[in-house]
Amino acid sequence: MSNQFDIKNIEIKQFDPITLTEEDWKLYHEFRKTRHEEVNPDDPYTDNETTEKNMKIAMKHPEADIFLLSIIDSAKSKQIGLVNYLVIKKTSASYEGNKHLVQFDMSILAPYRRKGIGTMALKLIYDFAIDHNKTTLISGSDEVDGKKFLEIIGAQTALTGVENRLNLEEVDWEMISKWEKEGPERSPKTKLQPFYTLPEDIIEQYSKIYTETTNQQPLGDLDVNDIIFTPESLRKMEKRHKELGRKHLTYITVEPDGEISGLTEMIYRPERKYIIEQLLTGVKEKYRGRGLGKWLKAVMLLRVKDEFPDVNIVVTGNATTNAPMLSINDRLGFKVHKEGISGQLTVVNLGKYLESK
Ligand SMILES: CC(C)(COP(=O)(O)OP(=O)(O)OC[C@H]1O[C@@H](n2cnc3c(N)ncnc32)[C@H](O)[C@@H]1OP(=O)(O)O)[C@@H](O)C(=O)NCCC(=O)NCCS
Repeated sequence: MSNQFDIKNIEIKQFDPITLTEEDWKLYHEFRKTRHEEVNPDDPYTDNETTEKNMKIAMKHPEADIFLLSIIDSAKSKQIGLVNYLVIKKTSASYEGNKHLVQFDMSILAPYRRKGIGTMALKLIYDFAIDHNKTTLISGSDEVDGKKFLEIIGAQTALTGVENRLNLEEVDWEMISKWEKEGPERSPKTKLQPFYTLPEDIIEQYSKIYTETTNQQPLGDLDVNDIIFTPESLRKMEKRHKELGRKHLTYITVEPDGEISGLTEMIYRPERKYIIEQLLTGVKEKYRGRGLGKWLKAVMLLRVKDEFPDVNIVVTGNATTNAPMLSINDRLGFKVHKEGISGQLTVVNLGKYLESK
């Protein structure tokens, strides 16, 4: 098919998974398939039914208001792009510190780039930001075109990160067993506790260590304030994971006085087949340097090997400045899969860019 198109036929319209017609879904799935081949051709491809179900649930995020737009070449009845932006909900405990932010992402199929369509979409995000008194925009990319686009529109690279992947067939399982043994040797009174559902008696305490260690991850120059997890928000996330058919496994270390000293969590999404995702690993400052991080990681990997025999890839994201985490991940055999940036710009500067176009 020819890649010629007329910019006059490009339409950007609201894309609401809850009310989409069958025809809209068809266009979306064709777009999604092409994007998958552009970006992650070797990763499992999620079937249409699961995608639709997941997107409908994803829209009802307990902490964020999410908006999606589709970009259509109406002459060809073809979806050629997708835009999403989100803001923190007023009801979220993290609202006060982060109410100035709009986070956005957009993707446009390769043949349609460098024609000003991304800029057209930015204008809509800009109008939204102005209407809602937002002052700062954050976006990210691990693609050449996306990084260049962010640079040109005036975004400052506020954080660099990597997507790391570990092939379980290449893991030194002897070293893992050693870490598993050393953990209790160095901390004989510390107990391990795994769970899929957060026990009610520790949820309050867990929400505190989860908040504390989440916010200790390096954020570079991002103008983001603490993300606060409450027992209610954790329960809502738990419910959402269950609705989405995800298995969210956590291990914590508990000290003799009942204090939770560390945690690690992984999430398995059935549609990702042989891939599991490592989420947060955090150890409270006063318990660091005792091998708890390695112990937690080791027991988690042993459990994953046992409980998810089809999984052979662990995926995780790390800021490039997170030395302690990268040191553990390095020794485990994680390798850089993609390098990404988080870009940040003020709404005022975006306005100046748009005026210049
Ligand atoms: C980011 C993306 C949506 C931009 O869409 P687009 O329609 O090509 O954007 P525009 O045509 O409006 O580009 C605006 C300006 O950005 C700059 N720019 C964009 N891509 C560029 C590239 N690959 N190299 C150099 N400059 C680039 C140019 O200055 C361009 O204006 P110009 O063509 O008049 O010189 C598109 O490249 C994409 O889908 N990338 C992959 C997904 C991604 O990484 N998204 C994250 C970013 S939110």
